[in-house]
Amino acid sequence: MSRYLFDSADVHAVGRFTVLENCYDPVSRCQLELTGLARGWRCLEIGGGSASLGDWLGERVGPQGEVTVTELEPRWAASRQRPDHVRLLRHDVVRDPLPGKDYDLIHARLVLLHLPQRIEVLTRLVAALRPGGWLVLEEFDCGWTPVLAAPDDASVLLFDRVHTALMGLLEKAGADPLWGRRVLGAMAVAGLQELTATTYAQAWPGGGTGIALHRHNTDQVADRLAASGVSAGDLDEFRALLKRPEFVVNSYPLISARGRRPHEKEVP
Ligand SMILES: C[S@@+](CC[C@H](N)C(=O)[O-])C[C@H]1O[C@@H](n2cnc3c(N)ncnc32)[C@H](O)[C@@H]1O
Repeated sequence: MSRYLFDSADVHAVGRFTVLENCYDPVSRCQLELTGLARGWRCLEIGGGSASLGDWLGERVGPQGEVTVTELEPRWAASRQRPDHVRLLRHDVVRDPLPGKDYDLIHARLVLLHLPQRIEVLTRLVAALRPGGWLVLEEFDCGWTPVLAAPDDASVLLFDRVHTALMGLLEKAGADPLWGRRVLGAMAVAGLQELTATTYAQAWPGGGTGIALHRHNTDQVADRLAASGVSAGDLDEFRALLKRPEFVVNSYPLISARGRRPHEKEVP
């Protein structure tokens, strides 16, 4: 089994998916359009979460195309209706063979970051593209989350303390919180061409949609944060801080990297 820190069967996953969908789906859709996404394409969405992007891909490729959405825990995605050309699969991208090959487009957002086997998975994703097919990987750089405004210095220290402890738990589970800054280089090593990356971030004020990601993440692993030395008082204050509009933190920067499998050499 994968060692993914945030159990997607837990109800906190729904809150997490809602934040990701609201804050990052518009960005991801733009990035996916830049590949030339068209009707009739065959697409693979890895670790699709709520499948909001997989369903949108289904609309873009139409019934003459096909979209496969994979997910370790598909229970939340399964609650949404979708047409026959969008298929949802329970699937572990580390252990299971990929469900197809010759894809026009493969997309994964915030999945490889969590996988200790991310380079091996990347290699298999590249091999599953058709020549000229696109891989779009979108990953956080969790190392750049400055506090942009705060009621006092103690609030900045509190945020950093709890956030650092959470990053420690992620690393222990095999995640690379800085994978976002490494992904383009890894895609080059994997043989992709026409590589480019765009980074998106926004201010997340207390009480808003985006900052709730910190609440879902820390609430879900509260017992492990406590075991790693975060006091109950700190966690309570942290939750209260996330509700204060005068506290503003930078969102996790989402690095959207895309590259293309080389076309086959033309035979003269
Ligand atoms: C941070 S969430 C991102 C969800 C979605 N991609 C998004 O951006 O909204 C990470 C997702 O990867 C899934 N995941 C983790 N390990 C996986 C694996 N080995 N195979 C497939 N999916 C996995 C989790 O269940 C979870 O839904």
